[in-house]
Amino acid sequence: MSLTQHFISCKDLDREDVESCLQLAQKMDELLTEDTVPEILTDFILATLFFEPSTRTRLSFESAMQRLGGKVISVAQKESSSATKGETVYDSIKVIEHYADIIVMRHSDKDAPQAAIAATDKPVINAGSGADEHPTQALADMYTMHKEKGRIEGLNMVFVGDMKYGRTVHSLVSLLSLFPNNSLTFIAPKALSLPNEYQELLDKRGVSYLASETMDAALHQADVIYMTRIQAERFEKTSEYEKYKGSYILDRATVEQKCKADVTILHPLPRVDELSTDLDELPNAAYFRQAGNAVPMRMAILVKLLGKEDLILT
Ligand code: NCD
Repeated sequence: MSLTQHFISCKDLDREDVESCLQLAQKMDELLTEDTVPEILTDFILATLFFEPSTRTRLSFESAMQRLGGKVISVAQKESSSATKGETVYDSIKVIEHYADIIVMRHSDKDAPQAAIAATDKPVINAGSGADEHPTQALADMYTMHKEKGRIEGLNMVFVGDMKYGRTVHSLVSLLSLFPNNSLTFIAPKALSLPNEYQELLDKRGVSYLASETMDAALHQADVIYMTRIQAERFEKTSEYEKYKGSYILDRATVEQKCKADVTILHPLPRVDELSTDLDELPNAAYFRQAGNAVPMRMAILVKLLGKEDLILT
């Protein structure tokens, strides 16, 4: 499966898929800058279903749809949906497919996207499946690297924080592994290291990577530092989370003393304490631009899945 019907996992994408999304996002960016976005999705309704909290992902999808002239209907949180009454994902989607032409869904269960696509032929986009994947964020991250570094290959990437539960990391690792000469370093407490499944994927694709529990030694060679939040909501006990909270903090002094002058700092946001606010004024701090890049990339994804790509590229 590539990006033709649903978008559930980065493992389904190949290099051409990623490149074509980057090209389309770039075109969207140009149209946004010139204020000339064609309203090509006026006939379509997007349903956003977020069974887990979201600000950026939901709003950037809704903004992307509306900028293209499309309409949006939304169930904001689990509390206000029939999931609280015990409805299955399959049943919810069977109903919602009558109300919308494309569905964006976030759910705590990693298998929820599979249940959704079993229920409908309408395009389903995974906007976060538990601790497993967050594929559209990874495409926005690739687009950010393409803009900030001018390339998505030959990068020395240092990931810091929660490699176990960080779904954005999992999806991004999978995309980076499609391009040559990227070398990856994963900094995490042992208990929060990258799941075997993703290590196996990197092995299979011949990508060089290493893991460490300490951050500072890896920083000097980084082209990109990808900071992440320790994912509090995935721990069974708060005491477990407390053990790891504050494990890694990147601040301005560390970046100025230890990193290459042109290092790019990314974070999918929200940040807790791992990214000091004194970094925000540095040109290297690209995380707010990264959040902005989600709009042209999500516009690209919507247009692709709704089969309107040719209207933008020609
Ligand atoms: C991320 C997520 O939901 O996984 N946020 C996002 O979509 N930008 C990262 C996080 O919550 O830490």
